[in-house]
Amino acid sequence: MAMPVRIVGLGGSLRAGSTSRTALAAALDGAAATGADVRLIWLRDLGLPLYTAEHAPPPAAREFADAVHACDAMIWSSPTYQGSVSGSFKNAMDWLILLADAVPPYLTNKPIGLISTAGGVQGLQTVNAMDFIARSLRGWSVPLVMPVPQSWRTFDPDGQLVDEAVAGQLRALGAEVARAARQFQTHGTCDYAEDRPVAADSGRP
Ligand SMILES: Cc1cc2nc3c(=O)[nH]c(=O)nc-3n(C[C@H](O)[C@H](O)[C@H](O)COP(=O)(O)O)c2cc1C
Repeated sequence: MAMPVRIVGLGGSLRAGSTSRTALAAALDGAAATGADVRLIWLRDLGLPLYTAEHAPPPAAREFADAVHACDAMIWSSPTYQGSVSGSFKNAMDWLILLADAVPPYLTNKPIGLISTAGGVQGLQTVNAMDFIARSLRGWSVPLVMPVPQSWRTFDPDGQLVDEAVAGQLRALGAEVARAARQFQTHGTCDYAEDRPVAADSGRP
């Protein structure tokens, strides 16, 4: 029998009631419900210094890079800051240069699920910024993404989800990432057509 796929969730803001952290946890719940092994890495707990190549990498950065290298798939969740990912999220991505000489390098063959929360309606920009990063790191962005707009409507002041429909969509994203990870585990690639055939009369190629 195949090993459970290992999914690392990365994200959240640095504040206690982070909605992007809660969204990440909901997505990981969805992945775990399908049998995946999941781990949530909250950026606040990582405490990574700003990236520099001038000194030896700190242990936190090395451990972070090792955890990413060991997983089969990731889910990223960032708040929207000034129309893009937060600085702390981008800084964590910059530290993944430690995987440049890994075998295989960076995020090769890892599906990545993308989530953002936003006070307004610019969350898709954040997801698109994460997509650029995923591609630069040779990861595979999962087509189903989840930009949560107007986070103050969807989460209470403590950062808890109060919208069950959004919670369900986040869990579905997590399940989709796990499904893609299983395809890589089984086939070495992610052929969407195999598990989900397109109807002959759909007009799609
Ligand atoms: C520094 C900063 C910049 C922000 N920039 C934007 C923005 O450009 N667009 C937007 O829709 N919301 C913006 N927001 C609102 C956050 O995206 C929103 O409150 C989000 O839910 C915060 O995530 P968190 O709960 O994980 O901290 C900003 C908030 C902060 C603190």
